[in-house]
Amino acid sequence: MTKFSFFQCRHTFIYFLKKERKPMGEAIPIVEMRNIRKSFGGVQALRGVDLVLHHNEVLGLVGDNAAGKSTLMKILSGAYIPNEGEIFIEGKKAHIINPWDARRQGIEMVYQDLALANNLDVAANVFMGREAVSVKLGPISIMDEHHMGQETQRLLDRLKIDISSVRLKVESLSGGQRQAVAIARATAFNTKVTIMDEPTAALSVAAIGKVLDLVRELKAQGCSIIIISHRLEDIYQVSDRMMVLRHGRKVCDTPVAGDIDDFRERVVAYIIGARDDFAEGVSKQPNNEHEEVQDIVH
Ligand SMILES: Nc1ncnc2c1ncn2[C@@H]1O[C@H](COP(=O)(O)OP(=O)(O)OP(=O)(O)O)[C@@H](O)[C@H]1O
Ligand SMILES: [Mg+2]
Repeated sequence: MTKFSFFQCRHTFIYFLKKERKPMGEAIPIVEMRNIRKSFGGVQALRGVDLVLHHNEVLGLVGDNAAGKSTLMKILSGAYIPNEGEIFIEGKKAHIINPWDARRQGIEMVYQDLALANNLDVAANVFMGREAVSVKLGPISIMDEHHMGQETQRLLDRLKIDISSVRLKVESLSGGQRQAVAIARATAFNTKVTIMDEPTAALSVAAIGKVLDLVRELKAQGCSIIIISHRLEDIYQVSDRMMVLRHGRKVCDTPVAGDIDDFRERVVAYIIGARDDFAEGVSKQPNNEHEEVQDIVH
């Protein structure tokens, strides 16, 4: 009996060991968009686009003007409703039909125009629409300025954003600082996915460096990020993977690898239509020749 129990235990132990070591399936992506289509009148902005974003990944989204990048991200952030297609957040089908739905799912977008209130201070901008209230007397609410100021300062410190006071009006900040405030606002409230549309356009070289540092910092703190940029150097520096759209279709989806010149040359070929990994008849295993290329750039 004792012997039997011993073997039984051993068997069970080995069973659990084997179970533990069973290869895990692909990790569930934090975002998956499937077959997204969107038309504006006669313009087909998106023609069946699939997108996957993994946990703690930075995905670069590139393509020529009017390729559909902003439209795709506006669908994810609830600004546009697609004509067709599905969105899954952490494996569950999501119904995102307005920005509040997206926010509830932990998705925030920093728009190309930043959408900041220039006449308000940094703290008021960070808390805009989510103001902390200290006293509520019937229809009158008194804002908890002190709390909002403290929380904003904590947020700027955590993201290593260099702004001397949260009481400065946004109109007095530099372009880079404004971008940083917009990004900080987007990441302030339990955001899981931050989308940035051209965050480095029209910034000085030094300011671009700071915004890219901010992207790295957010990744280090566990965020997942999608960054749209025409500046391929920026995508190369901060992205783990990149996706190219052309005329509303995905033409490339590949890890960011190799040296910068090779990367630029390859990406440009996709942008101008010289290469297409998802054309009819082309295998959907993109970039086989680059699968051996290793250094993922962080
Ligand atoms: N609100 C809208 N109304 C009508 N057409 C639109 C609207 N938004 C986008 N489009 C059209 O959809 C297409 C894709 O536009 P989108 O803004 O997504 O491109 P993009 O890749 O972000 O370009 P860019 O790099 O210039 O920002 C374009 O032809 C554009 O004119
Ligand atoms: Mg755009």
